[in-house]
Amino acid sequence: MKINKQDIYAALETITAPGEGKSLVESNSVTNVVTFGKEVIVDVTIANPSLQAKKKIEVEIMKVIHDKVYEKADVKVNVKVKVAEVATSTKIQGTKIEGVQNIIAVASGKGGVGKSTITANLAVTLAKMGFKVGILDADVYGPSMPIMFDVVDARPLATNVNGRSKMLPVESYGIKILSLGFFTDANQAVIWRGAMANKALNQLIFDADWGELDFLLVDLPPGTGDIHLSMVQAIPLTGAVIVSTPQNIALADAKRGVAMFQQENIQVPVLGIVENMSYFTPAELPENKYYIFGKDGAKNLAEDIDVAFLGEVPLVQSIREGGDVGHPVALQEETPLEEAFIDITKKMLTQLIKRNEELPPTEVVKITTMSGCSTS
Ligand SMILES: Nc1ncnc2c1ncn2[C@@H]1O[C@H](COP(=O)(O)OP(=O)(O)OP(=O)(O)O)[C@@H](O)[C@H]1O
Ligand SMILES: [Mg+2]
Repeated sequence: MKINKQDIYAALETITAPGEGKSLVESNSVTNVVTFGKEVIVDVTIANPSLQAKKKIEVEIMKVIHDKVYEKADVKVNVKVKVAEVATSTKIQGTKIEGVQNIIAVASGKGGVGKSTITANLAVTLAKMGFKVGILDADVYGPSMPIMFDVVDARPLATNVNGRSKMLPVESYGIKILSLGFFTDANQAVIWRGAMANKALNQLIFDADWGELDFLLVDLPPGTGDIHLSMVQAIPLTGAVIVSTPQNIALADAKRGVAMFQQENIQVPVLGIVENMSYFTPAELPENKYYIFGKDGAKNLAEDIDVAFLGEVPLVQSIREGGDVGHPVALQEETPLEEAFIDITKKMLTQLIKRNEELPPTEVVKITTMSGCSTS
């Protein structure tokens, strides 16, 4: 029995490439086909990095070859994930921090809506996709990243870069982390005043050796006050992601958050809104959804103010537990939550690509002095 390559391609033509809306062949997902007697080797590259998607496509390919070409074919499928393409197509423009390509703030108006949780899970999802990721925990009131990444007792080491001493971020799950929490005693009530916080932040950004990063995510403290304005002023942001729960009170704050970034004298593009705690799902009844805080609130807000809606994250115990034990839930493979975070991350990347194509890199934002205030 000799298998014909043409027949293999014809069979693969009938499979839709995940996330492409076209066939595997048409979307150029099939990178190579080798036939040798009854042996067939198919190399495919897909955009979805989840283990589930990889297995699914592998099974589909085997089945279609057995059904349509030769039922006793000895089929081997190599699935690769399309990482390089995403990375280069983000048309990375570079920021003011050497080696760091995109700096994205995660913000909300209201406290406790899940900014830090979303930041941690976006970071691990980006890292799983093959990107180099860092997190800057800029929460001056209550830094969360040391706990969420199980590095409470870690301290950044010093390193020497071109004769200058720099801080080396702490690493956990392949993610580089710097947090104000590494420098304060958790039991000590520290009142960070705006100026002090900004100086500390500035050091975490510019006096650190971040190395090469595709993404630096910045977890901001809750609120939209002066301290936030001056933080946004201090960091050359590529974009911002806003987190909200579906409640009206959170939505009002989220709207203020969006407005803060869109102010004429700030103009940091808002990449989109993530709705957190969208519905409650009990572990034993995974099909049941209870819309405790209302339904579609953030989605409707996004539509109203013409900002992309990046997706929803349910209220589930494993997310809270993952945060508390220092193992972000999106690290677990083949779960609905992994899928949800992949989906949100991809939507964010789509917005980022658009942003980087349309706009120049964000300069360190200059806040104009209010009229009547003299600086001299
Ligand atoms: N989708 C979710 N399901 C279950 N628990 C969640 C979810 N999102 C967040 N939590 C939990 O809610 C609490 C608050 O979340 P988190 O610390 O991420 O919020 P935050 O917006 O960063 O808060 P802050 O404003 O204090 O910085 C944490 O205990 C977290 O584990
Ligand atoms: Mg937080």
